[in-house]
Amino acid sequence: MERSALEAAGKRYRTEGISRRVRNIAVSAIKEMPLLAQKVPDCISLGQGIPSFPTPAHIVEAVCRHLRDTAWSGKYTLGPGLPALRRAFADMLVRERGLWVDPETEICITVGAMEGLCASILTLVDSGDEVLLPSPNYASHIEQVLLAEGRPVFFPLKPDTWQLDMKALQKAISPRTKALILCHPHNPTGAVFAKEDLQMVAQWALEHGFFILCDETYDFLTYDGRPYWSVLSMPELRRQVIGVFSFSKKYAMTGWRVGALVAPADILDHVMKVHDAAAICAPTPSQVAALAALEGPQECVAHFRQTLQARRDRVCAFLDRMAPRLSYVRPQGAYYVMVQFPPQIGDSMTVALRLLHEARVITIPGSAFGPGGEGHVRLSFGGTEAELDEAMERLAQWFDQNTA
Ligand SMILES: Cc1ncc(COP(=O)(O)O)c(C=O)c1O
Repeated sequence: MERSALEAAGKRYRTEGISRRVRNIAVSAIKEMPLLAQKVPDCISLGQGIPSFPTPAHIVEAVCRHLRDTAWSGKYTLGPGLPALRRAFADMLVRERGLWVDPETEICITVGAMEGLCASILTLVDSGDEVLLPSPNYASHIEQVLLAEGRPVFFPLKPDTWQLDMKALQKAISPRTKALILCHPHNPTGAVFAKEDLQMVAQWALEHGFFILCDETYDFLTYDGRPYWSVLSMPELRRQVIGVFSFSKKYAMTGWRVGALVAPADILDHVMKVHDAAAICAPTPSQVAALAALEGPQECVAHFRQTLQARRDRVCAFLDRMAPRLSYVRPQGAYYVMVQFPPQIGDSMTVALRLLHEARVITIPGSAFGPGGEGHVRLSFGGTEAELDEAMERLAQWFDQNTA
């Protein structure tokens, strides 16, 4: 079974002369499905997690002013990023998360969370090291571990709630465990993991000496007033934890490519070598945008959260009408839902490709998220209400015809 949607659709990759590291990885299906969709007229995307909102006007204005009035807008910044941005980020961490971090030595501004994740994994993981990943899990974490020649070790989430299966996680820990990657609110399931479970996981990390890499991309996005908690808050774990943050979803800035990484100073020293080799620095105009986002009004974040919660309710109402053929677990955060379909229609790659060509809706095959994702397609509800309604009607019709 191909992990790659392009290969499943017929693409063949050259292997001669290509490194083993790169032969072994795939472009995640999240990015491949929109490529395939370019050839399908009039299709609607429930695929990649792109919120429909434009970047707030005050952020765009600040960048325009900066480009016009400042001579250094088009130049590199220091490798770790603009000092003022690092200070503003550290202030935000104190204000919103109760976390004290030194902006001089413990923060690096990155090219999105993605570069922060990749640089962290390349810094920590040696060939053959085991990295624990929930299954299902965000596809790019898997490819990044493979790129570092690490060994992804999957532990299943509980399929009825998508919460951490603590027995399975404990069983997966071995003397070769180097790190655990944790992302919540969780992509692709929308789960917000229970604080008691996370505290237990942190205890195991201390006992066994492995790192925890916290992907905080959706830290602002929990629904129904549910509190958010991360192991980053545990002072006793500080030497073993890296936090990776994103401006993409919180401030509708997916295209600006800016994020931030928080790590103990003696680990960040090494992460900086990878960051320098791969990126030099995050784009300067994007850092200016991130600074404006942090210093400006925060109402947009609450507005995004409320709007996305209403969109979750809308999509869930559609899915309820498709029961019992389709089933799902109600997302508690992020903006994804894993939809389980009857196994007789085929595997998730086949179903996602048929949905693209026959229903003209982009979904992501569950197999892209590890073995625990098979039997599902992931829907993103970041799109507008009109897009969601039309896409869900198309899905309902397709599943009616194909699961009767
Ligand atoms: C869990 C997770 N981590 C990281 C990213 C990438 O974030 P960024 O745009 O900041 O690189 C995404 C994007 O969808 C994501 O879902």
